[in-house]
Order: sequence, then C-alpha cells, then structure tokens
Amino acid sequence: MDTVLKIDSVEKYYGNKGNVVKVIDDINFDVFEGEFIGVMGPSGSGKTTLLNMIATIDEVSSGHIYVDNKDITEISQKDLAKFRRENLGFIFQDFNLLDTLTIHENIALALTINRCKKGDIDEKVKKVAHTLGIDEILTKYPYEASGGQKQRCACARALITNPKLILADEPTGALDSRSAQMLIEMLSNLNKELGATILMVTHDSFTASYCDRILFIKDGKIFTELRKGENSRKQFFNQILDVVALLGGDVRDVR
Ligand SMILES: Nc1ncnc2c1ncn2[C@@H]1O[C@H](COP(=O)(O)OP(=O)(O)OP(=O)(O)O)[C@@H](O)[C@H]1O
Ligand SMILES: [Mg+2]
Repeated sequence: MDTVLKIDSVEKYYGNKGNVVKVIDDINFDVFEGEFIGVMGPSGSGKTTLLNMIATIDEVSSGHIYVDNKDITEISQKDLAKFRRENLGFIFQDFNLLDTLTIHENIALALTINRCKKGDIDEKVKKVAHTLGIDEILTKYPYEASGGQKQRCACARALITNPKLILADEPTGALDSRSAQMLIEMLSNLNKELGATILMVTHDSFTASYCDRILFIKDGKIFTELRKGENSRKQFFNQILDVVALLGGDVRDVR
C-alpha cells in the first residue's frame, strides 16, 4: 500500500526563548492510501496544531511531513497555496463557505483558481453534487442552505479536485446528531467507494467509530492507537469509549 502521509519526528513549540511550550512532542505515524484515520484527545492536546501543520497552515518547529513522498515542510511560501489546492481537501467545523458565491461557485473555487475549462468544471461540480445529494441547491447562496446542506457543500468543495488527502477538523462539531450521522456516513462512503484518504479530528466517539484507526493524542504525544480490524462498529465504539475514559477526555455525546 502507498503511504499518502508520513509524519516524521514532528515537534511544535510556541512562545519565545525562556518561555517555550512544546505543543507537539515527537509525533511519528504513517497514513496509507485509502485509510480513514481519526485523531482524538483531550482539549488542548495538540490535535488542531497537528492538522494545521499537515495542512501547511502552520509550520513545524522540527521534523518532516511527507505527502505523497514529497516533503511539504520544504515547500516555499509562494508555492504553498498551489500545493494545498492541488493535493489537499479541507472540511472545517464552521464550513468556511464564501457567502458572496453560490453553492456551485463555492464547490468550483479550486478549479476556477486553477483555470480549468468551464465545461469541465460544470461537469465535475454536477457529478460531486449528485454524489452528495445537493444538486437542487447549486444556484443558491450559503445563507439559503441548511447546516447539513452547507456541510455537504463543504465536502463537495473538498472532494472536487480529487485530493490525495482530505483533512477534517471536527466536521460534525457544529451539527445536530442526525446531521452529524449523515455527514459521517457520507465521509465513510467517500472513503469506501471513492477510496478517499481521510484524516479527521473529532471529540465524538460515535463519529470516530466510523474510522479504520484512531490515534489518541495526549500532551502532544501519541498516547495509543486503536484499530477497528474485524470488530463491528459497535464494538469499536465501546473500545473508543474505554480509551477516552482512560484519557480523561470529554465524551460529549454518547449515543
Ligand atoms: N498560536 C498559538 N500560540 C500559542 N499557543 C498555542 C497556539 N495555538 C495553540 N496553542 C496551544 O497549543 C495547545 C494545543 O492546541 P490545539 O488547538 O492544537 O488543541 P486541540 O487538541 O485542537 O484542542 P481542542 O480539542 O480544544 O480543539 C494548547 O495548549 C493551545 O493553547
Ligand atoms: Mg482543535
């Protein structure tokens, strides 16, 4: 199996001399093509920091991160936006849709910036919108869409470039439990049917139970790892709850 993401001895410090806080402390792991990985851990443990470094939004203090065997910590500032557009898909908790663009334009944004042909863009938008069940709202603006529809739009936007890696930070965090379940089932389908590789931060054990593997982070270090293997989702869910209890994390909603 190909390694899509390799985290190699990554550390992150904040602050200046005399007052340095180590937020990520020598993290190492690999993500293989087609894997659906969850990252869990107590608030402040470093999950978003880790995700942001992979997203090239934040810089590592030391160590290396490889996406598709390319060391992304070496990419120059001027090439970063292009790298992100061409290789990564993002799904944020607050969707980050642009209010002045229609749903169609929001989904198409990365392709428009990359100067793809209009016909090709329309075809791709239609296809991904159909997969996610938002064909009907493409001409609407984000403020006219429901929370769940906006979230699906955010997924469509993340998927449209066929990214090597999809990064999601608490994608179900702002949703009610029904919308959250719809979203995680959709992500799970994208992973299983389209082979999308996904790295998702979540506090929610139920959401996490859809993953193949969970990395638990505590104080900036990998505390432990759980694999679903042959377990049912229910069994995996119970195992996740046990580790969360051990970690002293916040189990927000046990369903
Ligand atoms: N820009 C920054 N400057 C200084 N410290 C920071 C900065 N960003 C994050 N931190 C600190 O790094 C630690 C990890 O933060 P991070 O946002 O990665 O946590 P998290 O695991 O995502 O938490 P949550 O579950 O609450 O989202 C926290 O102690 C936080 O205060
Ligand atoms: Mg966070």
